[in-house]
Amino acid sequence: MSTHEAGSLHAQGRAPAWLEVPQDVNALLQQIWPDTAHKGDDGVLRVGGLSAPEIVAQVGTPAFVLDEADFRGRAQAFAHAFADAFAHLAGARVHYAAKALISVGIARWLAEDDLAVDVCSDGELDTVLRGGIAPNRVTFHGSNKSDAELAQAMALGVDLIVIDSLAEIDQAERVAAALDCQPEVMLRCSIGVEAHTHEYIATSHEDQKFGLSVADGSAAQGVRRLAEQQRLQLRGLHTHIGSQIFDTEAFQLAIRRMARLTAQIEHEHGLNLPELGLGGGFGVAYTTGHDPLAPAAIAGRMAAHLEQECQAAGVAVPHVTIEPGRAIAGPAGVTLYTVGTVKPVTLDGGFTRLYVSVDGGMSDNIRTALYGAEYSATVASRYSTAPPQLSRVVGKHCESGDIVVKDEYLPADVAAGDILAVPVTGAYCHSMASNYNAIGRPPIASVRDGLLTVLVRRETMDDLLARDLFA
Ligand code: LLP
Repeated sequence: MSTHEAGSLHAQGRAPAWLEVPQDVNALLQQIWPDTAHKGDDGVLRVGGLSAPEIVAQVGTPAFVLDEADFRGRAQAFAHAFADAFAHLAGARVHYAAKALISVGIARWLAEDDLAVDVCSDGELDTVLRGGIAPNRVTFHGSNKSDAELAQAMALGVDLIVIDSLAEIDQAERVAAALDCQPEVMLRCSIGVEAHTHEYIATSHEDQKFGLSVADGSAAQGVRRLAEQQRLQLRGLHTHIGSQIFDTEAFQLAIRRMARLTAQIEHEHGLNLPELGLGGGFGVAYTTGHDPLAPAAIAGRMAAHLEQECQAAGVAVPHVTIEPGRAIAGPAGVTLYTVGTVKPVTLDGGFTRLYVSVDGGMSDNIRTALYGAEYSATVASRYSTAPPQLSRVVGKHCESGDIVVKDEYLPADVAAGDILAVPVTGAYCHSMASNYNAIGRPPIASVRDGLLTVLVRRETMDDLLARDLFA
């Protein structure tokens, strides 16, 4: 028995405020699981028509499992919501942010469903092209693009290149001249909006590396530079205020500032800016502590704000692009692990925390260590009658910060061999995975209607050693 003698509820005081002791430790909190996920009376998790043990029998653990219908449903919900909400204005297009999660198979879904994509490296660009995304459906981002990346993007004819610095204007002009092309660009502006999110993923306050600052005059200087030359065609302004944002006022403020900036530039330079990039950043529920808005509500509010702010600024409403990544990929993904060592650790005051080790960790989910991200977990392979015990899910890496789920109530009888599932791992987990401790990265398996497809296979020891010229 792993709980403290005072009982499992003894641990309550150490749990974060949002974490409630579950009535039934087997139950799924439906709002944080993919659409097709459910548990039967046997306590076994099913997703995409397959049980967790069936998935594990096919691909092992740890494994990223992607609910295809959920992913595609969310992408389409964003596409339709923005198309509808902006139809009476100049329209809007959704570019899925590939950085959240991409593979050739995923790019194929996006191509089939007519989504556009945003990429920020030649690797992401190559992946989406191989999946059949047309270059003119791609926006190319990056705060330190190489000449080769710019040349590739220009030669392919991507829809837009988003300029991130004054230096990049000269660089892009030079590369375009060598190719004798006239690419369309947006200018990424940082507009001093402090969105309420983790410091490392807030991107439009002043003291950070992205975009051209409006406050210090770089943005105005960038526009002047662009207006002076003939090569690069300025189609509009762009801003991305950060990621995992629930604060709708931050988006509203961003729209106000961008509308005013657009008006000011059009007025001062006699330029026409028909496009406005508003980035991504829409928050998702990792735990019951989060309550995100549905795409239709986000789109409706943004369209209303844009109309109002453009009218106030005296400027025509531009066509809008948005770039959601997390809100499409995040909730569609679940990581399956196998439990190994289970260790009760008794702390001051007799409080016991149960450390539940899994066969992955910070190499497949760095977000907990990097951002203090909060996750949830459930035993996915059986029903338990044991009481809830405050637990910490940790990995197999050699450091104490190797935490996957900092606080969760798991059944007190959780044991080696159980399958543990962690939801909302579709975004920024596989894409930020590493080989720390020479551990191979997990596969991505998509599931749909009882069928499993391996999109990306597990990394083998040979893969790990492939670059080691002495192996
Ligand atoms: N557009 C631009 C220009 C971006 O830089 C980003 C994310 C997005 C769109 C997509 O944002 P999303 O809708 O996914 O929030 N690794 C961090 C997130 C970094 C986001 C970087 N840029 C995390 O795991 O939370």
